[in-house]
Amino acid sequence: MCGIVGAIAERNVSPILLSGLKRLEYRGYDSAGIAVINEHQLFRERSQGKVAALEAKVIASDLKGSLGIAHTRWATHGVPHERNAHPHMSGTIAVVHNGIIENYQELKSKLSVGYSFESETDTEVIAHLIHSMRNDSETLFATVQKAITYLEGAFSIAVIDSNLPGELVAARKGTPLVIGMGLGENFIASDPFALLPVTNQFIYLEDFDCIRLTCTSIEILDKSGHIIERPTKNLYATDDAADKGLYKHYMQKEIFEQPKALSETLQGRLKVNLATLMGCDTHLSSKIEAVQINACGTSYHAGLVAKYWFESIGIACHVEVASEYRYRESVTPQNTLFISISQSGETLDTIEALKLAKQKPFLGYLAITNSPDSAITRESNWTILTHAGREIGVASTKAFTTQLTVLLALVDALSQHSNAAISEALTSLPFYSEAMLAMDETIQKMSKEFSESTSALFVARGILYPIAMEGALKLKEISYIHAESYPAGELKHGPLALVDKNMPVIAVVTENALTDKMIANLEEINARDGCLYIFKERRVQQKIGFGHEIELPDMPEITSPILVSIALQLFSYHVACEKGTDVDQPRNLAKSVTVE
Ligand code: F6R
Repeated sequence: MCGIVGAIAERNVSPILLSGLKRLEYRGYDSAGIAVINEHQLFRERSQGKVAALEAKVIASDLKGSLGIAHTRWATHGVPHERNAHPHMSGTIAVVHNGIIENYQELKSKLSVGYSFESETDTEVIAHLIHSMRNDSETLFATVQKAITYLEGAFSIAVIDSNLPGELVAARKGTPLVIGMGLGENFIASDPFALLPVTNQFIYLEDFDCIRLTCTSIEILDKSGHIIERPTKNLYATDDAADKGLYKHYMQKEIFEQPKALSETLQGRLKVNLATLMGCDTHLSSKIEAVQINACGTSYHAGLVAKYWFESIGIACHVEVASEYRYRESVTPQNTLFISISQSGETLDTIEALKLAKQKPFLGYLAITNSPDSAITRESNWTILTHAGREIGVASTKAFTTQLTVLLALVDALSQHSNAAISEALTSLPFYSEAMLAMDETIQKMSKEFSESTSALFVARGILYPIAMEGALKLKEISYIHAESYPAGELKHGPLALVDKNMPVIAVVTENALTDKMIANLEEINARDGCLYIFKERRVQQKIGFGHEIELPDMPEITSPILVSIALQLFSYHVACEKGTDVDQPRNLAKSVTVE
């Protein structure tokens, strides 16, 4: 998704801005741009494609300045093209913007008398709006404060004016923005990760905050225009995450980091009660009769797995995609805990669903996230962090398995009779995840055989069905191969019509109450000549005898969704490598989806 970096210093800020953009590349984007002010003149370079292309232009034109803003764009309004890339300019003003201005058409028609528009973006409207409101008797800061009251939607913006080479103005509503504090220099970014090479001191802005930065001062005005101080936070994240080490891709590195991520997520969370796990009131545990989970994408799949776990201990669980929940009438059963799951903690649909839920009579609001200072954390009563470490690959891997781990620890804490089987399975999870990763080469061989396919069905039963959904999502995301998932028992109700020798079916068979039924479903596929790729747990006694088969190590049934998902991540990863796609930044996708 779009990324913002801005800097004001007594040195050339172009390298800082470019390095910031590179650190935001993982979020997904299609074009990039930069504008700096040098001796009261505005200079801009923009480029479609990678930041490296922009960097080449910046070097060629020797673009330098001590005040600047930069942006990676993920197209919403207007195709990915240089003319639509930010910064957008109007006279002496340049603007970068994350989010969507919902009333941009209305503003555009008002501004069309006097301004000509060069792009199809909603952002250009902001530049012209600010320019049209600028007058000598008012500061840029005051103008921007006024201008944002005309903007509907969610946005973070940063504005510079070549008449004012000593100040950077920015504002946020609904999408993230932080100030990075330096010594005699200050910065802004949509994600603090962009600024870690220059500072580790950050101020997280709140909705409607409007700020003015100089080299030595920071002014923050809140919604009502009052000067306000926001807390400063130190971020001690190491730079490790930005280094692929010996791995070919971040995604591969992150898949292999899972044993560590799982064990860090489990630290201090085994055999604990709800109050210790969530930091909540000791009485909450006995009150919870149901949970409502809201999330998007992979995080939604984590919720679907958790439904099986919650309901196995008698707690009703409803799971919904956040973008659906927020636009429908829903009933809130009594004594229900609302849970938001989000790796980034910044997914707009999930945040908005949470805001809506806060108007309903839930028992309280729990966030499960990988981002301690995110909007979802701030909106929730309690947070359980997944200690996955930074996930850079757009396709979620370790964030997903750590979400599942937290959800199972939550079920364990809620379980009335402290479930020994859950605790034991969780304790051994990092060990079993190592065993699954040892399957890498075997899985790579199978993925080679599969990689020419143009379509695939993923099938499983019971608690592994959401893992089949996640397997299909992962495959389509990074290999661009069309994939769908079905509960295997559902095939005969329609999808079986698709099955012939050209239809690969990826199936998961583990030892559980449904093993025989699952194998019978595979027989049905085989009888129609379906091309089966079977992931089968070693201890399953029944011989299958058809299709391509991989034997997975034995695993505890309760943690099998977490472990099998690692095997399917490796499968998709290797297929994508065979196809030569951009594994870490797949086309059209973004890491953190801060627009509707
Ligand atoms: C898929 C993937 C996405 C995210 C979804 C929600 O690999 O990463 O489907 O899971 O965009 O993101 P978060 O968890 O940050 O709310």
